[in-house]
Amino acid sequence: MVLSTGTNKIKTALFISGKGSNLKSLIKFSKLKKSPISINLIITNNKLAKGLKYARIFQIKKKIINFKNEEIAEKKILNELEKNKIKLVCLAGFMKILSKNFVKNFKGKILNIHPSLLPKYKGLNTHKRALENKDKYSGCTVHFVNSNLDSGKIILQKRVRILKKDTADSLAKRVLAQEHKLYPNAILKIFNL
Ligand code: GRF
Repeated sequence: MVLSTGTNKIKTALFISGKGSNLKSLIKFSKLKKSPISINLIITNNKLAKGLKYARIFQIKKKIINFKNEEIAEKKILNELEKNKIKLVCLAGFMKILSKNFVKNFKGKILNIHPSLLPKYKGLNTHKRALENKDKYSGCTVHFVNSNLDSGKIILQKRVRILKKDTADSLAKRVLAQEHKLYPNAILKIFNL
């Protein structure tokens, strides 16, 4: 990865649409001495996103972006990223697909966390699909974002065993607990830490 850690932490933006539990875990991680990143901006397409509360609690700047017109929305976001000197973007439950143009503008500097063992189960309802297929394992993946959905280079994965009694919800809960460790570890990995 071309970014250097230098003496200052890498200014990072988190994109969320919902609960923001991965956001919370990354904020906690960012405050550790060993973390190469600081979280300076939270972007959401959803003004009702529960995770926005962490902007208040941890005093992080937030921007709510209306995605009615995606082209305008992305222009606004790119402008915010530039204004805030953001060098890394972490998607964490962000429910919009970024355009090829946006990804090109931030090439190699956008990460995503996905609740499956990619390349299996790109897209939605990953745990339901793993259960329907009677898989032995589900899990999660942190990967670079390219212009195809959930298809960029994989950084780290964690397997989670599927239990007989599992429902999509119970499985999602156990995988989410692993996501909270995997995302920080993937960030350490891309900075060779
Ligand atoms: C996570 O399962 C993540 O893998 C997926 O969306 C969910 C977001 O959860 N992309 P949260 O908002 O971080 O709690």
